[in-house]
Amino acid sequence: MGLRDSFQAGLARQLGHPSGLRGRIVGTMLNRRNRAAVVKAVAALGLTGGETAVDVGFGGGLGLTLLLDQARLVHGVDISATMLDRARTAFREEIAAGRLAVHEGSITALPLDAGSADAIVSTNTIYFVDDLGLAFAEVARVLKPSGRFVLGIGDPELMGRSRMLTDNGFRIRPVAEVESALDAAGLTSHEHERFAHSGLGFHLLIARKDTGPK
Ligand SMILES: C[S@@+](CC[C@H](N)C(=O)[O-])C[C@H]1O[C@@H](n2cnc3c(N)ncnc32)[C@H](O)[C@@H]1O
Repeated sequence: MGLRDSFQAGLARQLGHPSGLRGRIVGTMLNRRNRAAVVKAVAALGLTGGETAVDVGFGGGLGLTLLLDQARLVHGVDISATMLDRARTAFREEIAAGRLAVHEGSITALPLDAGSADAIVSTNTIYFVDDLGLAFAEVARVLKPSGRFVLGIGDPELMGRSRMLTDNGFRIRPVAEVESALDAAGLTSHEHERFAHSGLGFHLLIARKDTGPK
């Protein structure tokens, strides 16, 4: 493997599971590069201040900062111990005040009680998830009836043109496939917002948990 390939493989690994000093740097970079997307995704939750909100795969923690401004109680879930450490330092006061709890865990097995969240956001995470059905079933389990889920993903067509991503295990799925998986998990009535971000296309899929037959 050439130097360039091995650098790209290392970066791709860090994006999926930031770790160590490099992971901390990646966390800072994520906050900067993904700012516009994360801001729009959190805004799409339509929070009014009294909710319990969750960011799954919070990475550098920008989503947590925004949720803390807009919700009553915030949970952050991430598989990376480095991102958790970083958040525990950055949000020491909010954690001590009981406004934020951070948990190590995966979107496919959320460490949160059933029906405990009004709103869940997740941006740039499902590329690292093999079983989307399981991930969305977990989101549906944790949401209250009529709870809102906002999923942010890079444009699959453009992402599919990047060898750095395709050669390094990113799961890039067509938007229609992601929407079908949301439907199958009972996360329906979604709106689909599309915008340009850092010269790339980005999609927000906005879903509500079904309340069941009327
Ligand atoms: C590319 S970063 C995105 C961070 C942030 N959401 C953003 O948009 O800037 C992906 C994050 O998802 C986390 N992650 C990867 N797989 C995950 C999973 N199965 N469950 C929860 N988090 C996951 C990674 O540790 C990393 O912090």
